[in-house]
Amino acid sequence: MENQDLNTILEENRTFPPSQEFSQKAHISSLEQYQTMYKESTENPEKFWSQVAEELHWFKKWDKVVNSENAPFFKWFENGKTNISYNCLDRHLDSATKNKAAIIWEGEPGEERVLTYQGLAREVQRFSNSLKKLGIKKGDRIAIYLPMIPELAISVLACARIGAIHSVIFAGFSADSIRDRVLDCEANLVITADGGWRRGKMLALKNIVDQALEECPCVKDVLVVRRSEHHNFPHSFQEGRDHWYHDLSQDVSDKCPAEEMDSEDMLFLLYTSGTTGKPKGIIHTTGGYMVYTYLTSKYVFDLKPTDIYWCTADIGWVTGHSYIVYGPLANGATCVMYEGTPNWPDEGRFWNIVQRHQVSIFYTAPTAIRAFMKWGDKWPEKYDLSSLRLLGTVGEPINPEAWIWYNKVIGQERCPIVDTWWQTETGGMMITPLPGCTVTKPGSASLPFFGVDADVLTENKEPTNAGLLAIKKPWPGMLRGIYGDPERYKNTYWSKWPEYYFPGDGAKRDKDGYFWILGRVDDVVNVSGHRIGTAELESVFVEHSSVAESAVVGIKHEIKGQGLIAFVSLKRGIEGTKDLEQELTKWVANKIGKFVVPERIVFSADLPKTRSGKIMRRLLRDIAEGSTLGSVTTLADPSVLDDLKKKYEDED
Ligand code: WT7
Repeated sequence: MENQDLNTILEENRTFPPSQEFSQKAHISSLEQYQTMYKESTENPEKFWSQVAEELHWFKKWDKVVNSENAPFFKWFENGKTNISYNCLDRHLDSATKNKAAIIWEGEPGEERVLTYQGLAREVQRFSNSLKKLGIKKGDRIAIYLPMIPELAISVLACARIGAIHSVIFAGFSADSIRDRVLDCEANLVITADGGWRRGKMLALKNIVDQALEECPCVKDVLVVRRSEHHNFPHSFQEGRDHWYHDLSQDVSDKCPAEEMDSEDMLFLLYTSGTTGKPKGIIHTTGGYMVYTYLTSKYVFDLKPTDIYWCTADIGWVTGHSYIVYGPLANGATCVMYEGTPNWPDEGRFWNIVQRHQVSIFYTAPTAIRAFMKWGDKWPEKYDLSSLRLLGTVGEPINPEAWIWYNKVIGQERCPIVDTWWQTETGGMMITPLPGCTVTKPGSASLPFFGVDADVLTENKEPTNAGLLAIKKPWPGMLRGIYGDPERYKNTYWSKWPEYYFPGDGAKRDKDGYFWILGRVDDVVNVSGHRIGTAELESVFVEHSSVAESAVVGIKHEIKGQGLIAFVSLKRGIEGTKDLEQELTKWVANKIGKFVVPERIVFSADLPKTRSGKIMRRLLRDIAEGSTLGSVTTLADPSVLDDLKKKYEDED
């Protein structure tokens, strides 16, 4: 984080209390109530979490709320039997919620589909039975590569219902990324669609899957949902392996009882970037994740039966798992789900959706907010946003300017904003305002959620006002491991300090105890709220036959939060032409996905290194950000740096 940003944050002292009207009706309506509950939750977690878990359905009650004997391999609700799909669906079918909209879906071209809880339960059971027809059983891993259509939520819930472990792959990932994820968990089925709409174009999802599966012998079947019915979208079909969902499901029953899952049975894997070249398969299990996403949704979104809730994330990321599918549905909420981009057919699309569906709770990312700001107030002003009562943000630090705009133009100074800090690994929100009681400060995620014991520490475990974020004690939604790599789990998250979880973020704590998240302290860059390890990109670059070495750094980006700059040195005799730059850009898009393509690729004869041969990323970052170069005394050859700096500035 730049010093300048840090200063803006340090100087930020505006405060925004919730209105009395909001507080009075809220689940948690005063700071005293929060403090009392918080104290209970941290002093007696067993009691606190068992009371929450009792609100949900269990086939068999747990013996122990949390078992820390084999830390950091914690167990929650040990020996309890439940099913999250049952809790999201069946639990609501003997009340009026049965006839309530669970999902209000809107396709990018404009079509609408509304699924009531009863309707969604039927569709999920038909999907589960179709999976069974393909021989899928409890414990199988299933990769899901779908656009944001109802079948994405349906297939996720269908897997959970029969105990199959889903691994959703965001539909912006390339064939190679699909292949790596499928192979890592040895998935035997891929669920995809022929296509999906994005900015007026059909994405050829099935073709991308076909390419990925050329090297995936573990995959026996591909289930294809038809999205492009009226568009004659071309794609191949492999007899025996590929099945149309609408054919396969034609004669299946719409009753499929939910499997009784153990609390600690795996629910899903979700791959995320770390500091090495290899993405990690984050493991979430059933009971704790269910209880945690249920409670955070209820309190942070202050969910009421009449709310229309819209989270704009993609289900391909953890935000969509926890706060489009599992958390809100476990609460019986009505969720809006939208397939496409915010600027299609024009920049008013989101506000059009808010107005037409009367959205009351809106949850999005800072990168989107900054794009809305750039597009201008005229777009939201065209629409009636008076249905909104609560706003949320997630994914990266929000700059106070964007926060103030969001509050004024979208919230019309009427809606509290919840800036929620959490991660793929945490399963659910960890540091967040509660909208009825927290006085918010622009740019601060404020205070820890119930049961979360957060601290700011130095490397040496001393408490400090500005240092590293640390979480003491386990919480129910926490990851249980990295698929196939328990050592990496221990080393990455639990070895910096004993007894503390290390999330990899820098943080500051102010005099009121508020947390200000300052961004990653490791080699992970947050581009538009998407996490990407610089090592992952670097290894993709060096796979190219022209590249000798590469170093990728994150720089500040006006809209995306952070952007990527790649410094690349080429093999002897190869010239860094514009064509090669384009080729490498395409290479990265094909190897990982378009969303990680660098802002710039800078060719250089050499990269700045220490005498022991370590690339000095810090100096590259200084060059890329145009700031004064830090100390160069450890450099093996300081002239490399001058050449690079000149080159960078000349080409700008
Ligand atoms: C990283 C986690 C949480 C779901 C989406 C991203 C950053 C997330 C905030 C926030 C400041 C935030 C952190 C974190 N982050 N939310 N409210 N304020 N930073 O999940 O891909 O696992 O990324 O996103 O750096 O470590 P993810």
